[in-house]
Amino acid sequence: MARLRINGKEVQVADGATLLEAARAAGVEIPTLCWLKETGALTSCMICAVRDKSSGRLLPACAAKAVEDMDIDTDCEKVHEARREILQMLLDEHVGDCEAPCSRICPAGLNIPRMLRHIEKDEADGAARRAKLDLIFPATLGHVCTAPCERVCRRGQYDTAIAIRQSHCDASMPFLDNTIGQDTRRMATGLSVGIVGAGLAGMAAAWECALNGHACKVYEKRDCAGAKLRMLPQEQLPSEVLDAEIESVRALGVEFVFNCEVGSEPSIASLLEEHDAVIVACNLSFTAHAKLFNAKEEVLHVRAVGSGKKAAREVNAFLADAPAPSPEKSFNSNIGRLQPNELEGYAVERRKNVGQTFLSAVPSLESARCLHCDCTKPVTCKLRRYAEQYGLAPQISRIMERPPVAPIQAAQNVLFEPGKCIKCGICVEIVRASGLDAGIAFARRGLDSHLRVPFGAGLAKGLGDVAERCVQACPTAALSFRDAEES
Ligand code: SF4
Ligand code: SF4
Ligand code: SF4
Ligand code: FES
Repeated sequence: MARLRINGKEVQVADGATLLEAARAAGVEIPTLCWLKETGALTSCMICAVRDKSSGRLLPACAAKAVEDMDIDTDCEKVHEARREILQMLLDEHVGDCEAPCSRICPAGLNIPRMLRHIEKDEADGAARRAKLDLIFPATLGHVCTAPCERVCRRGQYDTAIAIRQSHCDASMPFLDNTIGQDTRRMATGLSVGIVGAGLAGMAAAWECALNGHACKVYEKRDCAGAKLRMLPQEQLPSEVLDAEIESVRALGVEFVFNCEVGSEPSIASLLEEHDAVIVACNLSFTAHAKLFNAKEEVLHVRAVGSGKKAAREVNAFLADAPAPSPEKSFNSNIGRLQPNELEGYAVERRKNVGQTFLSAVPSLESARCLHCDCTKPVTCKLRRYAEQYGLAPQISRIMERPPVAPIQAAQNVLFEPGKCIKCGICVEIVRASGLDAGIAFARRGLDSHLRVPFGAGLAKGLGDVAERCVQACPTAALSFRDAEES
Protein backbone atom coordinates (compact mmCIF):
# COMPACT_ATOMS: atom_id res chain seq x y z
CA MET A 1 0.00 0.00 0.00
CA ALA A 2 1.06 3.61 -0.60
CA ARG A 3 -0.03 6.46 1.64
CA LEU A 4 -0.09 9.95 0.11
CA ARG A 5 -1.92 13.29 0.18
CA ILE A 6 -4.25 14.58 -2.51
CA ASN A 7 -5.15 18.24 -2.00
CA GLY A 8 -4.14 17.82 1.63
CA LYS A 9 -6.37 14.78 2.18
CA GLU A 10 -4.63 11.56 3.16
CA VAL A 11 -5.41 8.44 1.11
CA GLN A 12 -4.09 4.92 0.96
CA VAL A 13 -4.00 3.00 -2.31
CA ALA A 14 -2.67 -0.35 -3.49
CA ASP A 15 0.90 -0.49 -4.80
CA GLY A 16 0.97 0.31 -8.49
CA ALA A 17 -2.16 2.47 -8.38
CA THR A 18 -2.05 5.66 -10.46
CA LEU A 19 -2.52 9.20 -9.17
CA LEU A 20 -5.86 9.21 -11.00
CA GLU A 21 -6.99 6.23 -8.91
CA ALA A 22 -5.63 7.82 -5.74
CA ALA A 23 -7.48 11.05 -6.51
CA ARG A 24 -10.72 9.17 -7.10
CA ALA A 25 -10.23 7.37 -3.79
CA ALA A 26 -9.99 10.83 -2.20
CA GLY A 27 -13.19 11.90 -3.97
CA VAL A 28 -11.33 14.25 -6.32
CA GLU A 29 -12.26 14.33 -10.02
CA ILE A 30 -9.48 14.86 -12.54
CA PRO A 31 -10.29 15.59 -16.18
CA THR A 32 -9.26 12.96 -18.72
CA LEU A 33 -9.49 12.92 -22.49
CA CYS A 34 -7.23 10.10 -23.69
CA TRP A 35 -7.68 7.78 -20.71
CA LEU A 36 -10.21 4.96 -20.48
CA LYS A 37 -10.21 2.08 -18.06
CA GLU A 38 -10.22 -0.44 -20.89
CA THR A 39 -7.43 1.20 -22.89
CA GLY A 40 -5.29 2.34 -19.96
CA ALA A 41 -2.98 5.35 -20.16
CA LEU A 42 -2.20 6.59 -23.65
CA THR A 43 -0.76 9.89 -22.37
CA SER A 44 -1.51 11.77 -25.55
CA CYS A 45 -3.45 14.70 -24.10
CA MET A 46 -1.95 15.64 -20.67
CA ILE A 47 -5.22 17.25 -19.56
CA CYS A 48 -4.95 15.16 -16.37
CA ALA A 49 -1.83 17.10 -15.26
CA VAL A 50 -1.43 17.39 -11.48
CA ARG A 51 1.36 19.00 -9.44
CA ASP A 52 3.79 17.12 -7.27
CA LYS A 53 4.31 19.66 -4.51
CA SER A 54 7.74 18.48 -3.43
CA SER A 55 9.36 18.64 -6.89
CA GLY A 56 7.00 21.24 -8.36
CA ARG A 57 6.67 19.05 -11.48
CA LEU A 58 3.48 18.43 -13.40
CA LEU A 59 2.65 14.74 -13.81
CA PRO A 60 0.02 12.98 -15.94
CA ALA A 61 -2.30 11.55 -13.27
CA CYS A 62 -3.57 8.76 -15.52
CA ALA A 63 -0.06 7.29 -15.92
CA ALA A 64 2.04 8.44 -12.93
CA LYS A 65 2.15 5.96 -10.06
CA ALA A 66 1.11 6.93 -6.56
CA VAL A 67 4.21 6.76 -4.39
CA GLU A 68 4.44 6.69 -0.61
CA ASP A 69 4.45 10.17 0.94
CA MET A 70 3.63 12.10 -2.22
CA ASP A 71 1.87 15.43 -1.78
CA ILE A 72 -0.27 16.13 -4.84
CA ASP A 73 -2.18 19.24 -5.82
CA THR A 74 -4.86 18.79 -8.48
CA ASP A 75 -6.45 22.19 -8.30
CA CYS A 76 -3.79 24.94 -8.08
CA GLU A 77 -3.33 27.79 -10.55
CA LYS A 78 -0.34 26.09 -12.19
CA VAL A 79 -2.44 22.99 -12.92
CA HIS A 80 -5.33 25.08 -14.22
CA GLU A 81 -3.00 27.09 -16.42
CA ALA A 82 -1.52 23.91 -17.92
CA ARG A 83 -5.00 22.52 -18.60
CA ARG A 84 -6.12 25.77 -20.19
CA GLU A 85 -3.06 25.76 -22.47
CA ILE A 86 -3.76 22.18 -23.53
CA LEU A 87 -7.40 22.96 -24.24
CA GLN A 88 -6.44 26.05 -26.21
CA MET A 89 -4.05 24.00 -28.33
CA LEU A 90 -6.74 21.40 -29.01
CA LEU A 91 -9.29 24.06 -29.86
CA ASP A 92 -6.88 25.84 -32.20
CA GLU A 93 -6.96 22.71 -34.33
CA HIS A 94 -10.64 22.04 -33.78
CA VAL A 95 -13.08 22.53 -36.65
CA GLY A 96 -16.63 22.29 -35.40
CA ASP A 97 -19.70 24.19 -34.24
CA CYS A 98 -21.01 23.07 -30.85
CA GLU A 99 -24.26 24.84 -31.69
CA ALA A 100 -25.47 25.88 -35.12
CA PRO A 101 -24.84 29.56 -35.92
CA CYS A 102 -28.61 30.18 -36.10
CA SER A 103 -29.35 28.73 -32.63
CA ARG A 104 -26.39 30.54 -31.13
CA ILE A 105 -27.79 33.89 -32.15
CA CYS A 106 -31.45 33.24 -31.24
CA PRO A 107 -31.97 35.20 -27.99
CA ALA A 108 -34.64 32.73 -26.86
CA GLY A 109 -32.38 29.74 -27.66
CA LEU A 110 -34.51 27.83 -30.18
CA ASN A 111 -32.73 24.64 -31.23
CA ILE A 112 -33.37 25.41 -34.89
CA PRO A 113 -31.74 22.45 -36.66
CA ARG A 114 -33.49 20.02 -34.36
CA MET A 115 -36.87 21.59 -35.05
CA LEU A 116 -36.11 21.51 -38.78
CA ARG A 117 -35.17 17.82 -38.58
CA HIS A 118 -38.59 17.12 -37.02
CA ILE A 119 -40.30 19.03 -39.81
CA GLU A 120 -38.26 17.23 -42.44
CA LYS A 121 -39.20 13.85 -40.97
CA ASP A 122 -42.86 14.85 -40.89
CA GLU A 123 -42.90 14.82 -37.10
CA ALA A 124 -45.35 17.68 -36.64
CA ASP A 125 -45.73 17.07 -32.89
CA GLY A 126 -42.00 17.01 -32.31
CA ALA A 127 -41.44 20.22 -34.26
CA ALA A 128 -44.26 22.06 -32.48
CA ARG A 129 -43.05 20.83 -29.11
CA ARG A 130 -39.46 21.96 -29.74
CA ALA A 131 -40.68 25.37 -30.88
CA LYS A 132 -43.04 25.76 -27.90
CA LEU A 133 -40.57 24.66 -25.22
CA ASP A 134 -37.80 26.89 -26.54
CA LEU A 135 -39.75 29.95 -27.69
CA ILE A 136 -42.89 29.79 -25.48
CA PHE A 137 -44.58 32.12 -28.03
CA PRO A 138 -43.53 30.39 -31.28
CA ALA A 139 -46.55 31.48 -33.33
CA THR A 140 -46.54 35.06 -32.05
CA LEU A 141 -42.80 35.34 -32.69
CA GLY A 142 -43.45 33.67 -36.03
CA HIS A 143 -45.42 36.79 -36.91
CA VAL A 144 -43.36 39.54 -35.30
CA CYS A 145 -39.74 38.43 -34.86
CA THR A 146 -37.07 40.21 -36.91
CA ALA A 147 -35.33 36.82 -37.29
CA PRO A 148 -31.69 37.62 -36.41
CA CYS A 149 -31.06 33.88 -36.90
CA GLU A 150 -31.67 34.15 -40.63
CA ARG A 151 -28.93 36.77 -40.96
CA VAL A 152 -26.32 34.23 -39.82
CA CYS A 153 -27.81 31.10 -41.39
CA ARG A 154 -24.97 29.29 -43.17
CA ARG A 155 -27.24 28.22 -45.99
CA GLY A 156 -27.24 31.92 -46.91
CA GLN A 157 -23.62 31.52 -48.02
CA TYR A 158 -24.89 29.25 -50.81
CA ASP A 159 -28.17 30.73 -51.95
CA THR A 160 -30.72 32.01 -49.43
CA ALA A 161 -31.05 31.56 -45.69
CA ILE A 162 -33.58 29.04 -44.37
CA ALA A 163 -36.93 30.70 -43.63
CA ILE A 164 -36.59 29.90 -39.92
CA ARG A 165 -39.21 32.33 -38.60
CA GLN A 166 -41.83 31.03 -41.03
CA SER A 167 -40.86 27.44 -40.17
CA HIS A 168 -41.54 27.79 -36.44
CA CYS A 169 -44.66 29.76 -37.19
CA ASP A 170 -45.99 27.03 -39.52
CA ALA A 171 -44.93 24.31 -37.06
CA SER A 172 -46.85 25.85 -34.17
CA MET A 173 -49.99 27.26 -35.80
CA PRO A 174 -51.81 23.87 -36.03
CA PHE A 175 -51.20 23.34 -32.28
CA LEU A 176 -52.45 26.67 -31.00
CA ASP A 177 -55.37 25.21 -29.07
CA ASN A 178 -53.23 22.40 -27.73
CA THR A 179 -51.57 22.03 -24.36
CA ILE A 180 -48.28 21.14 -25.97
CA GLY A 181 -45.32 21.14 -23.57
CA GLN A 182 -47.50 21.30 -20.45
CA ASP A 183 -46.78 17.66 -19.63
CA THR A 184 -43.22 18.74 -18.74
CA ARG A 185 -44.55 20.58 -15.69
CA ARG A 186 -42.90 19.44 -12.48
CA MET A 187 -44.70 18.60 -9.24
CA ALA A 188 -45.99 21.58 -7.27
CA THR A 189 -43.26 22.98 -5.02
CA GLY A 190 -45.56 24.95 -2.74
CA LEU A 191 -43.49 28.07 -3.55
CA SER A 192 -44.81 31.15 -5.28
CA VAL A 193 -43.40 33.72 -7.69
CA GLY A 194 -44.83 37.18 -8.30
CA ILE A 195 -44.16 38.72 -11.70
CA VAL A 196 -44.62 42.40 -12.43
CA GLY A 197 -45.55 43.01 -16.06
CA ALA A 198 -47.53 40.88 -18.51
CA GLY A 199 -45.46 41.57 -21.60
CA LEU A 200 -43.56 38.77 -23.35
CA ALA A 201 -40.71 38.88 -20.80
CA GLY A 202 -43.06 38.58 -17.82
CA MET A 203 -45.18 35.86 -19.40
CA ALA A 204 -42.12 33.88 -20.53
CA ALA A 205 -40.79 34.07 -16.96
CA ALA A 206 -44.19 32.94 -15.63
CA TRP A 207 -44.31 29.98 -18.04
CA GLU A 208 -40.83 28.79 -17.07
CA CYS A 209 -41.43 29.18 -13.31
CA ALA A 210 -44.81 27.46 -13.59
CA LEU A 211 -43.21 24.56 -15.50
CA ASN A 212 -40.88 24.21 -12.53
CA GLY A 213 -43.85 23.70 -10.26
CA HIS A 214 -44.08 27.19 -8.72
CA ALA A 215 -47.39 29.01 -8.35
CA CYS A 216 -47.18 32.23 -10.39
CA LYS A 217 -49.12 35.47 -10.20
CA VAL A 218 -48.60 38.15 -12.88
CA TYR A 219 -49.45 41.78 -11.99
CA GLU A 220 -50.20 44.06 -14.94
CA LYS A 221 -51.12 47.74 -14.82
CA ARG A 222 -53.11 47.56 -18.06
CA ASP A 223 -56.31 45.60 -18.54
CA CYS A 224 -54.82 42.78 -20.60
CA ALA A 225 -51.68 40.75 -21.21
CA GLY A 226 -49.40 41.49 -24.17
CA ALA A 227 -50.79 45.03 -24.45
CA LYS A 228 -47.92 46.38 -26.57
CA LEU A 229 -48.27 43.56 -29.08
CA ARG A 230 -51.98 44.28 -29.37
CA MET A 231 -51.13 47.67 -30.88
CA LEU A 232 -49.74 45.92 -33.97
CA PRO A 233 -52.06 45.71 -36.98
CA GLN A 234 -54.18 42.54 -37.20
CA GLU A 235 -52.56 41.54 -40.50
CA GLN A 236 -49.16 41.56 -38.78
CA LEU A 237 -50.26 39.74 -35.64
CA PRO A 238 -53.82 38.32 -35.51
CA SER A 239 -55.10 38.70 -31.95
CA GLU A 240 -56.31 35.08 -31.86
CA VAL A 241 -52.69 33.91 -32.23
CA LEU A 242 -51.52 36.00 -29.28
CA ASP A 243 -54.62 35.10 -27.23
CA ALA A 244 -54.09 31.39 -27.77
CA GLU A 245 -50.47 31.54 -26.65
CA ILE A 246 -51.34 33.64 -23.59
CA GLU A 247 -54.00 31.04 -22.83
CA SER A 248 -51.32 28.33 -22.81
CA VAL A 249 -49.54 30.27 -20.02
CA ARG A 250 -52.81 30.55 -18.10
CA ALA A 251 -53.42 26.82 -18.62
CA LEU A 252 -50.34 26.15 -16.48
CA GLY A 253 -52.19 27.73 -13.57
CA VAL A 254 -50.60 31.19 -13.93
CA GLU A 255 -52.90 33.81 -12.39
CA PHE A 256 -53.17 37.29 -13.99
CA VAL A 257 -54.13 40.37 -11.98
CA PHE A 258 -54.98 43.27 -14.32
CA ASN A 259 -55.38 46.99 -13.64
CA CYS A 260 -52.87 46.61 -10.87
CA GLU A 261 -50.03 49.11 -10.86
CA VAL A 262 -47.25 47.86 -8.62
CA GLY A 263 -45.65 50.78 -6.82
CA SER A 264 -47.52 52.21 -3.87
CA GLU A 265 -50.33 49.63 -3.60
CA PRO A 266 -49.37 46.88 -3.87
CA SER A 267 -45.76 47.81 -3.23
CA ILE A 268 -42.76 45.70 -4.17
CA ALA A 269 -42.25 45.21 -0.42
CA SER A 270 -45.71 43.66 -0.04
CA LEU A 271 -45.12 41.39 -3.07
CA LEU A 272 -41.84 40.29 -1.50
CA GLU A 273 -43.78 39.36 1.61
CA GLU A 274 -46.45 37.49 -0.31
CA HIS A 275 -44.12 35.56 -2.66
CA ASP A 276 -40.94 33.52 -2.33
CA ALA A 277 -39.42 35.45 -5.26
CA VAL A 278 -40.45 38.40 -7.40
CA ILE A 279 -39.50 39.13 -11.00
CA VAL A 280 -39.80 42.68 -12.23
CA ALA A 281 -40.45 42.45 -15.96
CA CYS A 282 -41.20 46.10 -16.71
CA ASN A 283 -39.26 49.33 -16.42
CA LEU A 284 -40.01 49.80 -12.74
CA SER A 285 -36.92 50.78 -10.74
CA PHE A 286 -36.39 49.01 -7.45
CA THR A 287 -33.86 48.59 -4.67
CA ALA A 288 -31.87 45.37 -4.85
CA HIS A 289 -33.16 42.52 -2.69
CA ALA A 290 -32.12 38.86 -2.54
CA LYS A 291 -35.62 37.74 -3.56
CA LEU A 292 -35.96 40.27 -6.38
CA PHE A 293 -35.02 39.46 -9.99
CA ASN A 294 -35.16 41.41 -13.20
CA ALA A 295 -36.33 40.65 -16.72
CA LYS A 296 -36.23 43.24 -19.48
CA GLU A 297 -39.20 44.01 -21.69
CA GLU A 298 -36.83 44.50 -24.65
CA VAL A 299 -37.77 46.22 -27.91
CA LEU A 300 -36.87 43.08 -29.86
CA HIS A 301 -39.67 40.66 -28.94
CA VAL A 302 -37.52 37.54 -29.03
CA ARG A 303 -35.03 39.23 -26.70
CA ALA A 304 -37.85 39.90 -24.25
CA VAL A 305 -38.67 36.18 -24.25
CA GLY A 306 -34.97 35.37 -23.74
CA SER A 307 -34.77 37.83 -20.87
CA GLY A 308 -37.86 36.32 -19.19
CA LYS A 309 -36.41 32.81 -19.55
CA LYS A 310 -33.11 33.95 -18.04
CA ALA A 311 -34.80 35.59 -15.04
CA ALA A 312 -36.86 32.41 -14.51
CA ARG A 313 -33.69 30.28 -14.56
CA GLU A 314 -32.23 32.52 -11.85
CA VAL A 315 -35.39 32.28 -9.77
CA ASN A 316 -35.65 28.51 -10.22
CA ALA A 317 -32.05 28.11 -9.05
CA PHE A 318 -32.62 30.48 -6.12
CA LEU A 319 -35.76 28.63 -4.99
CA ALA A 320 -34.04 25.26 -5.34
CA ASP A 321 -31.08 26.54 -3.28
CA ALA A 322 -28.84 25.78 -6.24
CA PRO A 323 -25.92 27.95 -7.42
CA ALA A 324 -26.94 30.88 -9.60
CA PRO A 325 -26.71 29.98 -13.31
CA SER A 326 -23.67 31.40 -15.05
CA PRO A 327 -24.40 34.66 -16.85
CA GLU A 328 -22.22 33.44 -19.70
CA LYS A 329 -23.61 31.33 -22.52
CA SER A 330 -22.25 27.80 -22.83
CA PHE A 331 -18.86 27.37 -24.48
CA ASN A 332 -19.20 27.23 -28.24
CA SER A 333 -16.50 26.25 -30.63
CA ASN A 334 -17.38 27.68 -34.00
CA ILE A 335 -16.14 27.25 -37.52
CA GLY A 336 -16.90 30.81 -38.57
CA ARG A 337 -17.43 31.80 -42.16
CA LEU A 338 -16.63 29.15 -44.73
CA GLN A 339 -14.05 29.88 -47.40
CA PRO A 340 -15.29 29.69 -51.01
CA ASN A 341 -13.31 26.50 -51.59
CA GLU A 342 -14.94 24.86 -48.53
CA LEU A 343 -18.51 25.61 -49.46
CA GLU A 344 -19.43 22.69 -51.62
CA GLY A 345 -17.69 20.01 -49.55
CA TYR A 346 -19.32 21.26 -46.35
CA ALA A 347 -22.83 21.29 -47.76
CA VAL A 348 -22.64 17.95 -49.50
CA GLU A 349 -21.32 16.23 -46.41
CA ARG A 350 -23.74 17.84 -43.96
CA ARG A 351 -26.70 16.87 -46.11
CA LYS A 352 -25.40 13.32 -46.27
CA ASN A 353 -25.66 13.29 -42.48
CA VAL A 354 -29.39 13.25 -42.86
CA GLY A 355 -29.38 10.91 -45.81
CA GLN A 356 -29.85 13.41 -48.63
CA THR A 357 -27.50 15.13 -50.96
CA PHE A 358 -27.25 18.88 -51.07
CA LEU A 359 -28.36 19.10 -54.66
CA SER A 360 -31.46 16.96 -54.30
CA ALA A 361 -32.81 18.96 -51.35
CA VAL A 362 -36.45 19.69 -52.13
CA PRO A 363 -36.67 23.45 -52.58
CA SER A 364 -40.36 23.56 -51.68
CA LEU A 365 -39.72 21.88 -48.34
CA GLU A 366 -37.78 24.57 -46.54
CA SER A 367 -36.49 22.36 -43.73
CA ALA A 368 -34.90 19.99 -46.27
CA ARG A 369 -32.48 22.77 -47.22
CA CYS A 370 -30.97 22.95 -43.71
CA LEU A 371 -27.30 21.96 -43.49
CA HIS A 372 -27.54 20.77 -39.87
CA CYS A 373 -24.58 22.79 -38.70
CA ASP A 374 -24.99 21.71 -35.06
CA CYS A 375 -22.83 19.10 -33.32
CA THR A 376 -23.98 15.54 -32.66
CA LYS A 377 -22.53 15.46 -29.11
CA PRO A 378 -23.09 18.94 -27.67
CA VAL A 379 -23.78 17.59 -24.18
CA THR A 380 -21.41 14.67 -23.70
CA CYS A 381 -18.39 16.13 -25.53
CA LYS A 382 -15.62 16.34 -22.95
CA LEU A 383 -13.68 18.97 -24.86
CA ARG A 384 -16.63 21.36 -24.65
CA ARG A 385 -17.28 20.53 -21.00
CA TYR A 386 -13.66 21.16 -19.98
CA ALA A 387 -13.41 24.30 -22.11
CA GLU A 388 -16.37 25.61 -20.15
CA GLN A 389 -15.05 24.37 -16.81
CA TYR A 390 -11.64 26.01 -17.30
CA GLY A 391 -13.14 29.24 -18.58
CA LEU A 392 -11.97 29.23 -22.19
CA ALA A 393 -13.60 32.00 -24.12
CA PRO A 394 -14.85 30.77 -27.49
CA GLN A 395 -14.42 34.24 -28.92
CA ILE A 396 -10.66 34.47 -28.41
CA SER A 397 -8.89 34.44 -31.70
CA ARG A 398 -7.18 31.27 -32.76
CA ILE A 399 -3.43 31.33 -32.39
CA MET A 400 -3.16 29.48 -35.68
CA GLU A 401 -5.29 29.83 -38.77
CA ARG A 402 -8.33 27.54 -38.71
CA PRO A 403 -7.59 24.26 -40.49
CA PRO A 404 -9.79 23.68 -43.55
CA VAL A 405 -13.14 21.90 -43.17
CA ALA A 406 -12.42 18.22 -43.90
CA PRO A 407 -15.06 15.93 -45.42
CA ILE A 408 -17.16 13.80 -43.08
CA GLN A 409 -16.76 10.05 -43.55
CA ALA A 410 -19.56 7.59 -42.88
CA ALA A 411 -19.76 3.90 -42.00
CA GLN A 412 -23.39 2.75 -41.78
CA ASN A 413 -24.82 4.80 -38.91
CA VAL A 414 -21.43 6.05 -37.70
CA LEU A 415 -19.94 9.39 -38.78
CA PHE A 416 -16.32 10.47 -38.53
CA GLU A 417 -15.65 14.21 -38.53
CA PRO A 418 -11.88 14.64 -38.81
CA GLY A 419 -12.02 18.30 -37.74
CA LYS A 420 -13.28 17.25 -34.32
CA CYS A 421 -10.66 14.54 -33.70
CA ILE A 422 -8.25 15.39 -30.87
CA LYS A 423 -6.01 12.45 -31.78
CA CYS A 424 -6.40 10.88 -28.37
CA GLY A 425 -5.84 7.38 -29.79
CA ILE A 426 -8.69 5.71 -27.89
CA CYS A 427 -10.46 4.39 -30.99
CA VAL A 428 -7.16 3.15 -32.44
CA GLU A 429 -6.53 1.23 -29.23
CA ILE A 430 -10.05 -0.25 -29.09
CA VAL A 431 -9.80 -1.38 -32.71
CA ARG A 432 -6.29 -2.78 -32.17
CA ALA A 433 -7.44 -4.76 -29.11
CA SER A 434 -10.31 -6.22 -31.13
CA GLY A 435 -7.76 -7.73 -33.54
CA LEU A 436 -9.29 -6.25 -36.72
CA ASP A 437 -7.32 -6.81 -39.91
CA ALA A 438 -7.70 -3.34 -41.41
CA GLY A 439 -8.09 -1.21 -38.30
CA ILE A 440 -7.39 2.50 -38.11
CA ALA A 441 -4.14 4.23 -37.37
CA PHE A 442 -2.52 7.64 -37.37
CA ALA A 443 -0.94 8.63 -40.65
CA ARG A 444 1.90 11.16 -40.76
CA ARG A 445 3.39 12.81 -37.72
CA GLY A 446 3.19 16.02 -35.69
CA LEU A 447 0.55 18.60 -36.56
CA ASP A 448 -0.12 16.83 -39.81
CA SER A 449 -1.04 13.49 -38.23
CA HIS A 450 -4.59 12.27 -38.78
CA LEU A 451 -6.64 9.10 -38.47
CA ARG A 452 -6.71 6.88 -41.53
CA VAL A 453 -7.71 3.37 -42.47
CA PRO A 454 -4.65 1.78 -44.07
CA PHE A 455 -4.75 0.89 -47.78
CA GLY A 456 -7.93 2.88 -48.38
CA ALA A 457 -10.06 0.12 -46.84
CA GLY A 458 -12.78 2.59 -45.75
CA LEU A 459 -14.15 3.54 -42.34
CA ALA A 460 -16.61 0.63 -42.08
CA LYS A 461 -13.77 -1.88 -42.38
CA GLY A 462 -11.48 0.22 -40.19
CA LEU A 463 -13.89 0.28 -37.24
CA GLY A 464 -15.39 -3.16 -37.88
CA ASP A 465 -17.74 -4.48 -35.21
CA VAL A 466 -16.31 -2.21 -32.51
CA ALA A 467 -17.62 0.92 -34.26
CA GLU A 468 -20.30 1.51 -31.62
CA ARG A 469 -17.84 1.10 -28.79
CA CYS A 470 -15.53 3.62 -30.46
CA VAL A 471 -18.38 6.13 -30.76
CA GLN A 472 -19.22 5.77 -27.08
CA ALA A 473 -15.56 6.09 -26.06
CA CYS A 474 -14.65 9.02 -28.32
CA PRO A 475 -14.36 12.08 -26.04
CA THR A 476 -15.63 14.47 -28.72
CA ALA A 477 -18.06 14.22 -31.62
CA ALA A 478 -15.30 13.12 -33.99
CA LEU A 479 -17.05 9.74 -33.92
CA SER A 480 -20.80 9.88 -33.48
CA PHE A 481 -24.01 8.18 -34.51
CA ARG A 482 -25.71 9.63 -37.56
CA ASP A 483 -29.06 10.05 -35.81
CA ALA A 484 -27.71 11.24 -32.47
CA GLU A 485 -29.83 13.90 -30.76
CA GLU A 486 -28.51 15.04 -27.40
CA SER A 487 -30.17 17.70 -25.31
S1 SF4 B 1 -16.95 18.02 -30.77
FE1 SF4 B 1 -17.31 19.06 -28.84
S2 SF4 B 1 -16.13 20.96 -28.94
FE2 SF4 B 1 -16.32 20.12 -31.01
S3 SF4 B 1 -18.10 21.12 -31.89
FE3 SF4 B 1 -18.83 19.22 -30.97
S4 SF4 B 1 -19.46 19.76 -28.86
FE4 SF4 B 1 -18.20 21.43 -29.66
S1 SF4 C 1 -28.35 25.78 -42.42
FE1 SF4 C 1 -29.76 25.05 -40.81
S2 SF4 C 1 -28.47 24.64 -39.00
FE2 SF4 C 1 -27.23 25.82 -40.49
S3 SF4 C 1 -27.44 27.94 -39.78
FE3 SF4 C 1 -29.06 27.61 -41.35
S4 SF4 C 1 -30.89 26.91 -40.24
FE4 SF4 C 1 -29.13 26.78 -38.86
S1 SF4 D 1 -11.83 9.75 -33.42
FE1 SF4 D 1 -12.32 10.21 -31.28
S2 SF4 D 1 -11.49 8.44 -30.14
FE2 SF4 D 1 -10.55 8.42 -32.16
S3 SF4 D 1 -8.62 9.52 -31.93
FE3 SF4 D 1 -10.16 10.99 -32.63
S4 SF4 D 1 -10.96 11.91 -30.77
FE4 SF4 D 1 -9.91 10.04 -30.17
S1 FES E 1 -2.68 12.06 -20.53
FE1 FES E 1 -3.95 11.51 -18.90
S2 FES E 1 -5.95 11.65 -19.71
FE2 FES E 1 -4.69 12.13 -21.39
